[in-house]
Amino acid sequence: MKVLIATQKPFAAAAVEGIESILREAGHSVEKLEKYPGEAELIAAALDADALIVRSDKVTADVIAAAPSLKIVVRAGAGYDNVDLAAASARGIVVMNTPGQNANAVAELAIGLMIYMARTQFTPATGSELAGKTLGVQAFGNVGRLVGQKAAALGMKVQALDPFLTDTQIEQAGATPVHSIEELYSTSDYLSVHIPALPETIGSIGYDLVRSMPKGAVLVNTARKEVVDEEGLAKALEERPDLKYVTDVMPDNYAALTEKLGTRVFATPKKMGAQTAEANINAGLAAARQIADFFATGNRRFQVNK
Ligand code: 3PG
Repeated sequence: MKVLIATQKPFAAAAVEGIESILREAGHSVEKLEKYPGEAELIAAALDADALIVRSDKVTADVIAAAPSLKIVVRAGAGYDNVDLAAASARGIVVMNTPGQNANAVAELAIGLMIYMARTQFTPATGSELAGKTLGVQAFGNVGRLVGQKAAALGMKVQALDPFLTDTQIEQAGATPVHSIEELYSTSDYLSVHIPALPETIGSIGYDLVRSMPKGAVLVNTARKEVVDEEGLAKALEERPDLKYVTDVMPDNYAALTEKLGTRVFATPKKMGAQTAEANINAGLAAARQIADFFATGNRRFQVNK
């Protein structure tokens, strides 16, 4: 089978080597398309691909339609909002992710962004400490739990909201359960967002929630820009000069936000949460193993379009 690794944001070299060796040992051929400019190049490269490994690369209905042999797409990472699941399912193509494999890298970045804002973006101005502050974690999955553990080790009080977990499960994972989004936002000095981008979550973090945050609070988004209602965020930040927003997923209105709000807002230049050698190796090798296993045994354990 021909496996195409299509990554606009390439994996670390060690991850690529590992992916290639797993797939070649399993008898597959591997092609790479890295740092490509757009969909046209992906369509051209995917024409004869049986399997696709991607990161945040957009696997649209047009890409799927242009790849008649395609049987499996593995998103090396957690969020699969970049893959047109309906188009894949209509063709019987299996879509998988590699849950948890890059979670530690994202969690470390979330903590780093909190410290960066608490310490006034590393300027000499007087900052504050994380210890003793309350961290709210919105969605207590693989990333959220690791953020919670690291924050607890720094002396933060950790509370979490996750509609898919019981109070006991949240407590066992080290946080105090919170039962409504309103309570989470209005009682968290730092609020770390870990929800996926779904029709029901897109634009769900807006004016009312941000405006309700405690004095001096910081909203931290290492999830997806789409879950934030950017206009509502801008309005709340303008009305509340004590609040801050830090993100690894640059908002579309970032230039306007920083012009108005200066250093109260910070976005990384390019999404970098999962961009560590370790995360690339974990997620990339998991993707390769999942593809090899799928072709060898039909294993669909991590299928997301069931
Ligand atoms: C994910 O969903 O796994 C993260 O957002 C990482 O995305 P990336 O592979 O594009 O860095």
